[in-house]
Amino acid sequence: MGWQRYSSLYIPWCSRAKVFKKDISGWSTARNRPLSLSLTHTRPLCKKAMVEIPQTHRAVRWYPPSYKIRVEDVPVPTIENPDDAIVKVTLGGLCGSDLHVYRGTGGIHDPIVCGHEFVGEVVALGDNFGPNAAGRPTLYSTLKIGDKVVAPFTVSCGECHFCRIGFSSRCAHSQLFGIPSLSGGQAQYVRVPKAGGTLFKVDSILALLPPDKERKLSDSSLLLLADILPTGVFAAVQALQHPKVAPFLTGRPFPFNATFVPEIHESTKPGNLHSSDRKLSIAIVGLGPVGLCATVALLDMLSDLNVSTGLKAQVLAIDPFESRQAKLKTVFETVSRGGSAQGVEFVSAGIEDGKEIMKKWTDDVGADVVLEVVGNNSALKLSYDLIRPFGVITSVGVHPDETVPFTGTELYDKNVSFDFGRCPVRSVLPFASKLLLKRQDVFGGVGTPESLIDRIVSIEEAEKSYELFDKGKVGKV
Ligand SMILES: NC(=O)c1ccc[n+]([C@@H]2O[C@H](COP(=O)([O-])OP(=O)(O)OC[C@H]3O[C@@H](n4cnc5c(N)ncnc54)[C@H](O)[C@@H]3O)[C@@H](O)[C@H]2O)c1
Ligand SMILES: [Zn+2]
Ligand SMILES: [Zn+2]
Repeated sequence: MGWQRYSSLYIPWCSRAKVFKKDISGWSTARNRPLSLSLTHTRPLCKKAMVEIPQTHRAVRWYPPSYKIRVEDVPVPTIENPDDAIVKVTLGGLCGSDLHVYRGTGGIHDPIVCGHEFVGEVVALGDNFGPNAAGRPTLYSTLKIGDKVVAPFTVSCGECHFCRIGFSSRCAHSQLFGIPSLSGGQAQYVRVPKAGGTLFKVDSILALLPPDKERKLSDSSLLLLADILPTGVFAAVQALQHPKVAPFLTGRPFPFNATFVPEIHESTKPGNLHSSDRKLSIAIVGLGPVGLCATVALLDMLSDLNVSTGLKAQVLAIDPFESRQAKLKTVFETVSRGGSAQGVEFVSAGIEDGKEIMKKWTDDVGADVVLEVVGNNSALKLSYDLIRPFGVITSVGVHPDETVPFTGTELYDKNVSFDFGRCPVRSVLPFASKLLLKRQDVFGGVGTPESLIDRIVSIEEAEKSYELFDKGKVGKV
């Protein structure tokens, strides 16, 4: 893989994200305005900074109360804690979640350097990195200046209880990039706290490939690992690992299919399931970039399960926008050709058609699993309407509403299970990396009919890009 020396924001096809591109020696802007990165204006940041770093850099800043984005020269962040690293950004993403801040609904009241998705190169390390870091996460001993890294959208120390058990999004030291207390990744440089636990090295992704295999991994696709691909994987894996889905995977009924199985007399043991009981019906609600990632992850896992257990599945992808339904159809055809949809029937549809299809597929019973990837109450209500009794709803949407649209009776009457919340990106990253490598046909391209990323632009286009993104006007650019 060749690492391109530029910094950019990307545009997922359907979420109309944009990004910023620069030459390593200075911004190559839309206006051809070079940045002053001359070495006479540089300073070392800490003992372990082996490269010269400028005093100021270009950064995308948001100003309260809303809709005000400027690209400005601001001071380069410095090492503040010995666990910190400074990363020189090569790609920074603009994501649906940035719009909460942009519109003034993100609960932020002070100016910020925006962005929570970035990949780049380590240019400075705090004093806790080095040979004396035994017993700490490996990167404290092995991370070097010049290493290419992906940063998850939140800080995770890798050492607390939550990080150790795989729930890193609730790390005791968790911080989101792109808030007043931690500058974000739509900039040339970023300070990464708890960097030995937070960062993920790009070469460990390539190490997943057997040595004889062609190493194909596009630079732009790495950015998807900062947030949306792990989040899609998280949605799919939470659903498929749910105890209520276990009967489909094991062929044995509840409660005799788990790690802990109650001891009962042989004569009272239930029989195995019929093959018709084992067809899994799944709906995905919301086909933005995260929904697309969730769909690809789900199809790949179902395909593997078909090979290992004979499981069959039908997957219904729902979004009101026809362009997004069509995109998912193309993506399904692409991953089917690539061998990631074995044993899976797939349809994408609008909301009303989707409801009818699920009824028909399941004789009016409903979906066994719904992945909610929107983040509003209409999508939660649709998910509830689609789910069958003893079904599983996995929601990764960020919900701004103060209440959820169900009564206690409705929840009771369906024995429904819900999972909500933020993806533990650092914990899921190794899993998501494998999928990233496998499905470069969807994640690797830029601006093709099947690709997730739509375009790469200069950082100087940030203001315009936010505006177009907010209005849904950049679409397939
Ligand atoms: N949990 C996490 O860690 C995490 C991480 C990243 C993003 N997110 C959240 O995931 C959600 C999706 O992100 P995205 O970037 O794909 O957003 P997006 O806005 O690009 O896509 C959402 C899609 O949902 C569709 N939609 C709206 N209402 C619907 C309904 N009632 N039924 C079906 N579809 C409906 C929209 O048409 C749109 O295509 C957002 O809420 C985002 O903030 C969560
Ligand atoms: Zn994001
Ligand atoms: Zn932690």
